Amino acid sequence: MNKIILLGYMGSGKSTIAKSLSKIQQVPYVDLDQYIEKKVKMTIKNIFETKGEIYFRKLEHQYFVELLENDQDCIIGLGGGTPCYANNHELLVGEGRTSIYLKASIDTLFDRLKVGKAQRPLIADKTDEEMKEFIAIHLFERSYFYNQAQHTVVVDHSIDQIVADIVAILK
Ligand code: S3P
Repeated sequence: MNKIILLGYMGSGKSTIAKSLSKIQQVPYVDLDQYIEKKVKMTIKNIFETKGEIYFRKLEHQYFVELLENDQDCIIGLGGGTPCYANNHELLVGEGRTSIYLKASIDTLFDRLKVGKAQRPLIADKTDEEMKEFIAIHLFERSYFYNQAQHTVVVDHSIDQIVADIVAILK
């Protein structure tokens, strides 16, 4: 089976890109956050608030492995932090796996994350100024893990261009 794994910071457009790619490639798309929410019948926000981040990271690892091990071709959209915990970055490569880092600039991420930040536990209570600094530092810390992906696609331009770049990688 083939697993296409999309990773990148919050707001890098993983879901939007994955949905479009899924139509073009005729391969189903699974969003890891949504998969977890369905499995434990709680929202991510709720899991963070009531059980804490460490508990969430354990679930995230467990369900990422579950998705990789099932025998269906699929596009897996990871959460922004998935590659950075529980040695998940080591799962980005291997037989039948293609991992793609969707790389966005700090400005792109800031503009996208300003809208709807309340639903994202890591930035929900930050002012715009705090958020920009947080993104810059956090992205720097996470880059090592994101760079373990086999491919990198810059996502600061149109969705059509991004999807075309990914399709070219998959050929
Ligand atoms: C997180 C990103 C979120 C979600 C959780 C933690 C992170 O996913 O998994 O809130 O650590 O960056 P998205 O990147 O899909 O928003």
